[in-house]
Formats: sequence, structure tokens, C-alpha cells
Amino acid sequence: MQTIAIIGASGNMGSAISKSLSKGNYRLLLCASRQDKVQAVVEEIKSGNPAADVETIDCSVEASWEADIIIVAVPFAAEKEVAQKIREVANQKVFISISNPLNDTYNGLVTAPDTSAAEELQKLLPNAKVVKAFNTTFAADFATPVIAGQQADAFIAGNDEEALQTVSELVSTAGFNPIVAGDLAVSRTLERMQLLLIQLNMKYDYNWLAGWKILHQ
Ligand SMILES: NC(=O)c1ccc[n+]([C@@H]2O[C@H](COP(=O)([O-])OP(=O)(O)OC[C@H]3O[C@@H](n4cnc5c(N)ncnc54)[C@H](OP(=O)(O)O)[C@@H]3O)[C@@H](O)[C@H]2O)c1
Repeated sequence: MQTIAIIGASGNMGSAISKSLSKGNYRLLLCASRQDKVQAVVEEIKSGNPAADVETIDCSVEASWEADIIIVAVPFAAEKEVAQKIREVANQKVFISISNPLNDTYNGLVTAPDTSAAEELQKLLPNAKVVKAFNTTFAADFATPVIAGQQADAFIAGNDEEALQTVSELVSTAGFNPIVAGDLAVSRTLERMQLLLIQLNMKYDYNWLAGWKILHQ
């Protein structure tokens, strides 16, 4: 069974991802700076599914040491700090970058056009297998991955074939349709796609329940 550490498990995305993946055959280690908040997420999961293999762990270093897959569910601005803490335990592990590096007014990204949050995380963790995933799905979508009768797509980008396969299975477990979009540099597009969806969500009041679907034959 694969062990997944979720760093930032008390947040909107971290808790939504934890709840979704607790339905699969994974061991989950939930980690955040506030233990009480992350403990509440564990209790909520256990109350719905007492058999779920989920526990809190109070330190991102320990969680990442034990994990095969690490999901970094913290704001882009905090990723550098997290990466520095777990650098020595990151070797050859799959790191999922979910962040959208939005500016304060949501009218642009803080990253330069020739890079992405995922590529910046890869630079900080050169020996890890960084994969972009879950950045194009809103936290609310995890409870309802089928929106208006359509299963939302979830795009994945990365450079390691095996890691892409592992993350595709995880995305399926969460109820989304996985689409491998390309190598890690495709994250530049995926992060801008979500900037657009956030802007449309605010303009048309989708109530954060919206997603992407590629129509094809
Ligand atoms: N919300 C969405 O719908 C959505 C969709 C796609 C992608 N994303 C991305 O997902 C990430 C998280 O977003 P969110 O909406 O879930 O944010 P959030 O609700 O504010 O949660 C942030 C989490 O990060 C933790 N955290 C903050 N600073 C930290 C640090 N220095 N070290 C360790 N943990 C830290 C917080 O823990 P404490 O509370 O204990 O400090 C909390 O668990 C962001 O990168 C965002 O771009 C969000």
C-alpha cells in the first residue's frame, strides 16, 4: 500500500484531497502547522469511514520520510519554506504541486511567463519527481467531481512516466478524469488555465463548483 503525506492537510484543498483519497487503498499521513485543525479532519474522515488508514503526523519532515508520495497543499508563498525543510528526505519521491501562484488581486500570476510554481518546486527539490496535479480542480469539486452531469477532467504534468502513472491513479481515486497534458513545463499553461477559471468563477458566480472538460470524439 502506498503512503501519502499531505502537507497543509487542514486547509481547503488539503482536507478535500485527504477526504477523497481516504476512500482509496492508501495510507494517509496528515500534516499541518496547527495539530488541532488537522486532527479535526482525521476525526471527520474516521466518523464516515472507521476503516480509513489515516493519522496525523506533526512534522512535515517525518511525514515525508515515511511517504512514497507527498502532496504539497500549502500556498505558493509557503512552498519554499516547506521544500527547505523536507529537502533531505525528498530523493526520488513523487511530489505533487497543486499550487496556483496568484497575485493578491487575482488578475495575474506572481511567477514569470517562462516558469511555473511546479518548475520552481522542482528547482528547490532537484532529486524529487515533481508532478503538477489538482491545480485545475477547486476544493469544492472534490465532494462533487461530477458537475452538471460531466465528470471533471484533472490535468497532470510531469517528466517521469512512472510518477505520471502513479498520480493518474490517485486522480481517478479522487473521482476525476485524469488527463496527462505533457511534461512539467506544461504547468505554465495549467496554472494560467486556473487563473482564468478563478476569474470566470468570480465574474459568473459559479460558487467555486466548476471545472474543465475536454469534449472530444
Ligand atoms: N482552494 C482551491 O480551490 C484551490 C484549487 C486548486 C489549487 N489550490 C492551491 O492549493 C494550495 C492550498 O490552497 P488552500 O485554498 O487549501 O489554502 P488554505 O485553505 O489557506 O490552506 C493552506 C494550508 O497550508 C498550511 N500552511 C500554510 N503555511 C504553511 C507553512 N509555512 N508550512 C506548512 N504548512 C503551511 C496551512 O496550515 P495551518 O492552517 O496549520 O497554518 C493550511 O493547512 C494553494 O497553493 C492553492 O493555490 C487551491
